[in-house]
Order: sequence, then C-alpha cells, then structure tokens
Amino acid sequence: MVDFNPKVLNKEELSAISAGVNEEELLLFDKHLLDNYYDSNVFIEAKEPGSPWVIVKDFKTGEQSEKLDCTAQYWSLALGFAHPDVNYAVAEQMKRFTHIKSEGVFPSRAKFINKLSELCPGRLKGGRVKINNEGGSLAVEAAVKFALVASKGGDHFLTFRGGYHGNTLAMITASQPFHTITRFRPFGVDFFTRVPQPYCYRCLWNYKNGLYGKQDPECNLECFNLVKEYLMGLTSRKLAGVILEPWQAAGGHVPFPPDFLVKLREVCEQEKIFIIYDESQTGVYRTGKYFTLTEKYEKELGIDVSPDMMCFTKAIGGGFPLGAMIVSNKIKKRFGPTEDHTTFCNTPIGCTAGLASIMVIERAKIGENCEERGKQITKQLKELQEKYDVMGDIRGPGLFIGIELVKDQKSREHFTELMEDMLHEGVRQNILFGPSMPYLSGTGKLLKRNLIKIKPPLNITEEDADFICDKFESVLKTSLNNLK
Ligand SMILES: Cc1ncc(COP(=O)(O)O)c(C=O)c1O
Repeated sequence: MVDFNPKVLNKEELSAISAGVNEEELLLFDKHLLDNYYDSNVFIEAKEPGSPWVIVKDFKTGEQSEKLDCTAQYWSLALGFAHPDVNYAVAEQMKRFTHIKSEGVFPSRAKFINKLSELCPGRLKGGRVKINNEGGSLAVEAAVKFALVASKGGDHFLTFRGGYHGNTLAMITASQPFHTITRFRPFGVDFFTRVPQPYCYRCLWNYKNGLYGKQDPECNLECFNLVKEYLMGLTSRKLAGVILEPWQAAGGHVPFPPDFLVKLREVCEQEKIFIIYDESQTGVYRTGKYFTLTEKYEKELGIDVSPDMMCFTKAIGGGFPLGAMIVSNKIKKRFGPTEDHTTFCNTPIGCTAGLASIMVIERAKIGENCEERGKQITKQLKELQEKYDVMGDIRGPGLFIGIELVKDQKSREHFTELMEDMLHEGVRQNILFGPSMPYLSGTGKLLKRNLIKIKPPLNITEEDADFICDKFESVLKTSLNNLK
C-alpha cells in the first residue's frame, strides 16, 4: 500500500476532512454557498472500493442509506466509486508530484496521450491529442479553436437541436438554448447556427416506425436534405465545422441514423467543413465493447463515419476531472504555445487516472460486461413496456439507456411529471435515476423533460442489473400512483 507520512498535521486531522460533516458545518455551508441548489443527500463513501453503490446521508434527518447509482455521477464513474486500481495509480503519481505546468512533459502525460491516439477510431487513429484539466466544455472549445486555425476561411459552426456541448460562455451558445432561464446572454452567438436533429421516434416528416433508436424502414432521410441546405451555404457565414453528438445524450438519447452520418461525411468532405464529434457521453465503452460509438459503427456496420475531431469528458478521467480532444493527423496544423492552454491543463492526476482506468477496463473486459448488462436490462425493459403504456421508447446500446415516458404509446405525448416523480421516488427506493435536460420555450415554459436514464457504472453485476429492473418497475408503479 502506498504510504504517506504527514509532517505538519496528523493523520486523524487530515482524514477527518473527507470522512464526515456535522450539522453545524452543513448549516454554514447552506449559508455560504453561492449556488441556490444542491442534492438532498450528502455523499459519504463508496459501499466498497470500485462499487456502483454509494453510502449517502440525508441532509436533514442524518439517516444513512446505500444507493445504486444509475447516473454514475453525470455518467462519469465507469468503474464505480473509488476504484482501487485507479486510486493506487493516482497515489503513486501523487508521491512523485501532483502538478506540472502546461508545457511540461511527464510519464503519465506521454503514455495517456499515446494510448488515446492508439484507441481512437478510423481516421483519428494515430491522431494528435489535446487534453485539459476540466472536461467537455474545454474539449469542444479546443476543437472549435482548432477548426478556426485549420479552416480555409470558415469561422462558423452548425450545431443541432438538443445538442449539449458544455456550459462555458461560448459552449452554452453551441448547446440547446437555456437562455430563457439563464440571466445572462452567452458569448459568440454569431458563431453558431442550430439546425433540427434527426429524431426517428418523433420524426418531423411523420414517419412513425422509427423505434428503439432505429430509422423507419420507409424513411428517405428528408432530415438530411434540410441539413444539407445549410452545409451548402445557407448559413450567414462560411462554415468551419459541424458539431454533433453521434448519439445525442442530454437532449434525450436521440441517435443520428448511421446513413445520415455517411451522407454528412460526403458533403463535408466536398465542402471542406470539419466534422467534430462530441463523444463525451458515448465514449469510453459506455455503449459496449468498443471505445467509441464511432468504432462500434465501424466494426458492426462496416462504415467509417469517423470525424476530423473528437471530444471526450466524463469517464475519460477515470473518476478525476479531465477532457480530451483528438484531431486527425491528416490536418497538418498544430496549436502554437498560447493558443490553447490553462495553468493546470496537463494534470498528472487526470492523466494517470485516465490511463489506469482504460487499462482496467481493457484487462477486466468491462466493455463486454457493459454490453451484456445493457442487453439484460434492455430486454427486461422491453417486457415491461408491454405492461406499461407510459413507456414510449427505449433507446441506447450498452449501458447508455434512456426510456421516453409518454402519456400513452399511441399519442406519444411527453409525460414530464412522471419522469420528475420517478427521480424523487427512486431516491426513496435507494436507486438514483438520471433525467434528460429540460426543453424550454422562448418564454421559459417547460416543454418537455420526459426521458429517464439508466447509465450506471459499467462494472455493475448481473444482480445489480436485476435490481435496477425490479426497482424501475416498483418506482414506476409508485410514481403513477403518486400522480393520480
Ligand atoms: C455531450 C457532452 N458534451 C460536453 C459536455 C460538457 O462537459 P463538461 O461538463 O465536462 O464541461 C457534456 C456534459 O454533460 C456532454 O454531455
């Protein structure tokens, strides 16, 4: 075991910082916090190292319970809470140093970047990697900057309805608008044009059989023809890139039909527009045994829809803050010294944790487990769907599962209240489900938020998966009763 010997404070004092918090400290916290929202539970510790279960304490009653986390803390903890291998590697790194300035080279930075370059699919294999100490917003911003550097005259970007690319001032603009509920105007509005996202379950062209994330067999991809108009010059300025999540996540688990991606590739190549995939949620084995969704399409459908740039956050850091962006080495440019850096961007902790986590996933075949457990859960959910008319559509490969809740399967009317009640009822029944993001009208009216997510750590067991399905039904039943 790694040993640290404190010199100034004693071990008890130091471990007390994270071990617990008393009522008085929590009252002060409530007073001092700038944000006006926080969870009703205090997270205490992993049930066991590397477990998808976590021990939490009720903020008000002080009651302690164990909860199975189907959010993986914003879909980040691929290996559960406090994985021992990752923590061991991090502790070893910490014995050496914890911070090196942005142009510094150190072993875990070199190895992590090499590994990402080796793992990325298609035309990104062998590409050039840029990491940051924060996550997805900065990764997508790095791609935007790089597209500006490498584009021949383009300085504008297409994004899609429901796309989410982060919360920095510029990335809010690239994302599905929250401006009706934010009290400031985001920056760079003239850099982005938003276009409709293909949405097979709720097709704008009224095809009705786009179920389970699949295209309606009758569909002629009219949605692509619309987007093509923009690619061919409908935007007010010349396009440098198009930014998309190949399987949109926060916006409601809405996939681009693979044929759409093929056509997009053709037009973008012809028009010299960079394709930037944001695989922040679908990357790092979340959709099954492949590193990215793009790789899954390559191996299973035989199509290479790999982009010019790809962005990651969440699981890429092995439980620590990290973002990454990779660029195809067909683009010959590189970033200059000050074009994309922050003080902490090359975090040794993040690089070490990220690499250790990928090594564990590979060695323990966690991607394969993700695929199996995903099939197990989805099969049971589809059985439940026959019993419950409010389960509209079930989408997502692997443990990237979203269930669209509707008033009834025929009308497909959004059932937002049910999703919201299930989140609360889940907490009461010791399971944490995740929500999709809210869609708001220009006046701030909530239009829909009806997708409930099951995206636990990828190392859940068969028993955990059965527990999730049993609880899903029990929570659904109770919530339907609560809403009567
Ligand atoms: C697809 C996608 N891109 C980017 C981001 C932003 O990442 P971060 O919150 O790490 O800045 C997120 C976060 O949810 C995301 O889901």
